[in-house]
Amino acid sequence: MSYTIPIEKSTQSRLGEIDFENLPFGRILTDHMFEMDYLDGEWTNIGIRPVKPMQLSPVNLALHYGQSIFEGMKASIDADGHPLLLRPEMHAKRMNLSAERMCMPTIPEELFIEALEKLVYLEKDWIPKISGSALYIRPIMFAADEFIGVAPGEKYKFFILTLPVGPYYSKPISLLTEQKYVRAVDGGIGEAKTAGNYAASLLPAKLAKKKGYDQIMWMDAHEFKYIQEVGTMNLFFVFKDKVVTPATDGSILKGITRDCFIKILSSWGHRVEERKISIDEVIDAYDLGDLVEVFGSGTAAVSTQVSKITHKSKHLVFSEDRWTLSKKLKTYLNNLRAGNLTDDFGWIVKLEEEAFV
Ligand code: COI
Repeated sequence: MSYTIPIEKSTQSRLGEIDFENLPFGRILTDHMFEMDYLDGEWTNIGIRPVKPMQLSPVNLALHYGQSIFEGMKASIDADGHPLLLRPEMHAKRMNLSAERMCMPTIPEELFIEALEKLVYLEKDWIPKISGSALYIRPIMFAADEFIGVAPGEKYKFFILTLPVGPYYSKPISLLTEQKYVRAVDGGIGEAKTAGNYAASLLPAKLAKKKGYDQIMWMDAHEFKYIQEVGTMNLFFVFKDKVVTPATDGSILKGITRDCFIKILSSWGHRVEERKISIDEVIDAYDLGDLVEVFGSGTAAVSTQVSKITHKSKHLVFSEDRWTLSKKLKTYLNNLRAGNLTDDFGWIVKLEEEAFV
């Protein structure tokens, strides 16, 4: 099905003001956004319009009871000036999984993808060309009802925002295993990309920062024994003979970069295991010299090396000369995204001009 998505163009572009050599993460919006409303059981008011502030009632339902979900993806540009997307259909599906868990309406996948493609094509001059930078895409949906009461909303607002960004992490990060707070429990909302998961991480992360760490390594909620994720990224542990990543058991985000890395690593001949991994296994392997490197994966983080993990009084320090796979994966994914490699996996969607005129 093809949707009619009217475009209202902005009269004045801010593109000329942007310093593409020094892009912060998440602060600069492009000129346009996609917008639509869910009213009386259907998506309506569909269009691409100039970015503008919105008015919000103080009794907006999402503000009070947290019905808010989002996605994070990136667009890059090839040498011929074609915008490229990586696995947009996976993001459409995950958005709908989050919607179902949070009792929100789903979005037809074709509409999500068409809106995304049209917006990214319109904003193609905003796509940074510097390696490691990209156009970050933030689809977001939240309840728009105006009342106080714990009930699913009947009205929703959906936006797709685009932002030219530099790297989210510009250096390797240190992690502290969390011993008191939890990010997610079985049957909870850990798998959904919903605002509350990130809000829950703020206090523990602030306390960890006070102790000199960049982020929390979340542990399971029962025994504080099994590793979950970092919150901003999934985790990979590289042993001498295998790579292990915590299985997505409902309490961990099903990372799309995580899935890419599993498939790339397998195609390179690595043994990849998705399973429970305990902090004791990690420490034992470290002590034996069998743990080579640890890194995170995420749309924003791409692959980010872990320089240190502290668990109680034990410190695991990882040296840069052993960061091989994480660097190789980052280079591979960035090159694939930039159209410099053959797309062996069939993940890249190239936006050709003819489809948008
Ligand atoms: C992403 O990787 O897209 C996220 O939403 C995580 C956040 C650290 C930006």
